[in-house]
Amino acid sequence: MAEATAPGVVSVLGAGAMGAGIAQACATAGHTVHLVDADPDALTRGRAAIEDSLVRLVRKGSLDEAGVARTLANVHGGGDLRSAVSAADVVIEAVTEDLEVKRGLWRQVAAHARAGTLLATNTSSLSVTEIASFGGDPAASCGLHFFNPVPLLPLVEVVRGEHTSDATVARAVAFVAGIGKTPIVCRDTPGFIVNRLLIPYLNDAVHAYAEGVATAADLDAAMTLGANLPLGPLALVDLIGLDVTLAAIEALHRETGDPRFRPAPLLRRMVRAGKLGRKRGEGFHRYA
Ligand SMILES: NC(=O)c1ccc[n+]([C@@H]2O[C@H](COP(=O)([O-])OP(=O)(O)OC[C@H]3O[C@@H](n4cnc5c(N)ncnc54)[C@H](O)[C@@H]3O)[C@@H](O)[C@H]2O)c1
Repeated sequence: MAEATAPGVVSVLGAGAMGAGIAQACATAGHTVHLVDADPDALTRGRAAIEDSLVRLVRKGSLDEAGVARTLANVHGGGDLRSAVSAADVVIEAVTEDLEVKRGLWRQVAAHARAGTLLATNTSSLSVTEIASFGGDPAASCGLHFFNPVPLLPLVEVVRGEHTSDATVARAVAFVAGIGKTPIVCRDTPGFIVNRLLIPYLNDAVHAYAEGVATAADLDAAMTLGANLPLGPLALVDLIGLDVTLAAIEALHRETGDPRFRPAPLLRRMVRAGKLGRKRGEGFHRYA
């Protein structure tokens, strides 16, 4: 078990699905959190998402009212990037998955971060080494890849870039343990661990479905009943979103050039048709 770090100041850049969840987890653990977003509406939505999530955690019995009060008191939104970054012990970048957006932001972070600040990106599919090259000290930079929804999923992949120092990895591991998550260290390779293994499996399930191996319901039932998985692969693609799954398999294919990661043509067709899964009411299954 990694040793946890004492509470400090964490600045989370990007208040979308991931940034809000990361801010919440850090605030519940006692860190002072500055949540920053270029879009003021995103900040409002992020704050509302945190409040909704806290209500659900209380209903489930996994958080008490004191935890709710502590979390809300610790999250500060609406400040400017410069003061948030210069105050931070840890910066976690969770902005849009676009290399140019991240390049611009990391340059600003580098200009304002104090020496010794841990700089982390939550990217799912881009190179941590490349992002770290945009600014700041690459030795003090790493990936902290949280999973969605952050308040519920315990794993954080601690991604070691080519220049990440051993001290930074140790610090990142301690930080993750300190917010009650489980750190697993991996190299900076496409998909890290979970997406490297999960996304090709999901893509393969779409190939199998397109080949007529079985109905969607039977493919899913086979994997829940025969492999003891909690959810069948096509139901999982519906949950993640067909567009998000397609982007992930395309990123693996682009980075590696390996034909094993060729996106299933049916996946692409369904995305073009707007069948994106649960969020649109239809994917491989239909939802009310
Ligand atoms: N969604 C997931 O399931 C998931 C899981 C793990 C990791 N990630 C990664 O987390 C990151 C964020 O993903 P998300 O799903 O939360 O995206 P999102 O689109 O929900 O949120 C991104 C936010 O970044 C903000 N933003 C864009 N440019 C900015 C800038 N220059 N400064 C400040 N804010 C800026 C946007 O306004 C938006 O609110 C991505 O790198 C993604 O790959 C996503």
